[in-house]
Amino acid sequence: MSILVTGGAGYIGSHTVLSLLEQGYEVVVLDNHSNSSFESLRRVKILTGCDITYYEGDVSNRLLLQNIFSENDIKQVIHFAGLKSVSESVQSPLKYYDNNVMASIVLIQEMIAHNVCELIFSSSATVYGIPESVPLNEDSKIGGTTNPYGTSKLMVEQILRDTAKAYPQLDITILRYFNPAGAHPSGLIGEDPSGVPCNLVPYISQVAVGKLPKLLVYGNDYPTHDGTGVRDYIHVMDLAEGHIAALKHKMAESNCRTYNLGTGKGYSVLDLISAFERQSGKIIPYQFVERRIGDVAECWANPSLSQQALNWTASRSLDDMMRDSWNWQQKNPTGYE
Ligand code: WQD
Repeated sequence: MSILVTGGAGYIGSHTVLSLLEQGYEVVVLDNHSNSSFESLRRVKILTGCDITYYEGDVSNRLLLQNIFSENDIKQVIHFAGLKSVSESVQSPLKYYDNNVMASIVLIQEMIAHNVCELIFSSSATVYGIPESVPLNEDSKIGGTTNPYGTSKLMVEQILRDTAKAYPQLDITILRYFNPAGAHPSGLIGEDPSGVPCNLVPYISQVAVGKLPKLLVYGNDYPTHDGTGVRDYIHVMDLAEGHIAALKHKMAESNCRTYNLGTGKGYSVLDLISAFERQSGKIIPYQFVERRIGDVAECWANPSLSQQALNWTASRSLDDMMRDSWNWQQKNPTGYE
């Protein structure tokens, strides 16, 4: 029996594929390389000594999905594939609703048609919109999303909840990631955003390696301990292990369950700069500028439900994340190119 991982060549996908292979799972990857490189999977094979069945294409390609389900004994699906740039989603909302929502509908339809019942969906803390209070629990208010990317995740979550009610044979787990960061300690795989990074940690990494001149800190007048934005950064290896824990968690309370994957700790932009400088020995030049539209002051998880239900806890520290981010970046100054 195999696990189909859509978007398995991407940042979180490739780290999760590595963990799956290390746990002895058979893995089938579907990826269209819109924001990933096949090189990541070549390196995962080197790291694990395991082979990967691989299909290149879109999740929305119904015929391709039918071939995958016919040619492989797929028991579970982890659905990472999707576009994830907040700023790009504002410019191209239809591209995001097509890639993130329509494709997910096709996937669920083909899973049902082929009696593949177990799905783990890659969601995001963005579905909480502007938090009324922190830490965020799974039953905190969702909605009020500030961009089409977040709204697309919210839409797929609702589609999954409704579909689970209509198809009791389905076993669906929704995982809401907070802020993924870091890389596999080997430095062979890591985060390789196309173009200038939107996210903080890859941006800092590229400043440290000399690809970018300085970091622009979006606002230092937030009501936080040092005025800069606070987020719940979680090591990508902890995130990968959270998916393994979710796979092993058998249907108990309901056939559609939602869990926050975060550490429960909030760190500011200045905290990250200090940690990265400590771990890399590099100085990160930065300049305070205006707040970024759509940003919230602070956002971090209450991870107790995932700890209790999945028997999973994020164990890696902020220093681990910064050390591993720097190790990846300095070994791969131009990413997977
Ligand atoms: C973190 C903090 C910025 C860049 C987004 C998505 C979320 C998930 C993670 C996909 C904020 C500040 C950032 C920079 C800065 N993506 N910052 N200068 O916005 O919390 O979350 O990415 O799943 O869904 O919403 O992450 O890394 O962009 O920002 O000052 O150049 O760093 O203001 O306080 P964010 P981020």
